[in-house]
Amino acid sequence: MALDTNALARIYGSADPQALAAQERRYARALEAFARRYGPGEVRAYHAPGRVNLIGEHTDYNHGYVMPVALDKDVLLLARPRRDGVVRMDNLEGGFPQRTFSVAAEISPQPVGDWANYAQGPAEILEREHGPGLHGLDALVDGGAPYGVPRGAGLSSSSALTVAFAVALAEVNDLGLAGPALADACSRAEWYVGTRGGIMDQFISVLARQEHALFLDCRPAADGSGYAYRHVPLPAEYAIVVADSGLRHTNTGPHYNRRVAECRIGVRLLAARYPGITHLRDVEDHPWPEIEPLLPEAIDREELLAMGIDPARILDSGVDPQTDTFSVRRRCRHVVTENRRVLDACEALEAGDVARLGTLMNAAHESARDDYEISTPEIEALVRLALGLPGAVAARLTGAGWGGCIVALVAQEAAGDFAARLVAGYRAETNRQAQVFVCHSAAGAGLVLQTRV
Ligand code: GLA
Repeated sequence: MALDTNALARIYGSADPQALAAQERRYARALEAFARRYGPGEVRAYHAPGRVNLIGEHTDYNHGYVMPVALDKDVLLLARPRRDGVVRMDNLEGGFPQRTFSVAAEISPQPVGDWANYAQGPAEILEREHGPGLHGLDALVDGGAPYGVPRGAGLSSSSALTVAFAVALAEVNDLGLAGPALADACSRAEWYVGTRGGIMDQFISVLARQEHALFLDCRPAADGSGYAYRHVPLPAEYAIVVADSGLRHTNTGPHYNRRVAECRIGVRLLAARYPGITHLRDVEDHPWPEIEPLLPEAIDREELLAMGIDPARILDSGVDPQTDTFSVRRRCRHVVTENRRVLDACEALEAGDVARLGTLMNAAHESARDDYEISTPEIEALVRLALGLPGAVAARLTGAGWGGCIVALVAQEAAGDFAARLVAGYRAETNRQAQVFVCHSAAGAGLVLQTRV
């Protein structure tokens, strides 16, 4: 079967011929499996990358700033358009049951954790906004190791799946939906599964550019023109190393939504004095000492209710944050200081000042640990070990937190040694196996090739 290797190079980079050859074999295997599953005929291959966030954690849903990088680990989706509105989905890995649904049906989410939600979300949004009568697909997902985005590791495996389905549905239906508009639809599609997340993961998956980070302002422009962003070149002499602690979390759990609720409570308290504050982003216009006294270190449900703030209604669609006490001051402090750090980090990266970028990333970790309280002993072990190794200028937890991965900035020539020593040190300290890999930033989601099987 002839694969278009130029198409693969455009996505995964041409720097390493071995990696490219491995991708070719992966695509060939997936195409064969597709033919076995759905029979001979036309097939289109779409990819959507996962991401690692360099800096800007838990700022996106506060209308703040983020700076992620796309991975060359992705979701590969093979699809054949259908005449009707049915989506059939299957997966090359075990543990994912086959699913069938209609894009036109009023669909309610499957139980939390069901992978069909990540296809039903975009189908529902696209049908509602670009339908009716969208065509469905026969789809086969390939997201397994070592090419897939590790799942539940804070590298946006679920967003990559959502984006892959959205890209495929938009393309087979000729919707002309791409770039920020597509990313925006994807982020709304993910609310469907119950996470009150921001827009970072979907935007980087759609807009990524090889060898670049994405600086993204998560506040939509007041005139409806969308979001401001720019691609920032990565320093060639430093490797972005990702180390997966092996500890899993799920965004749909209560932790994440609780943090969102704490931020929104902060906004409500501040807005009583400064009506211009609608999101924590707006706090950048006020000196922190002016803000701090308005935010209690902790406040409970009864006190909030007495002030007219109902925590059960603070998250849209009435998702209850499932706690009685809210730590407001330190959560807000993290977001406000993190926004400043992202702006400074972007400036440092553009000026080629890696030392400054490293200092900011390290400060971001301390803030995430102490003020946002999203670290774990395993993540702390990884960060401490990483910072003690030669060539490392920064190490911080990345993603939502409560497990998952760290991201480190390491001098290129030291990266191999760094990975080996980090794995050994982590095993000695925690008896756990870390997966460490160097991030080769890939291109954003889209159609990779169209062929027949
Ligand atoms: C998850 C969410 C993102 C973002 C990060 C934390 O990955 O999906 O929108 O909030 O957590 O920075």
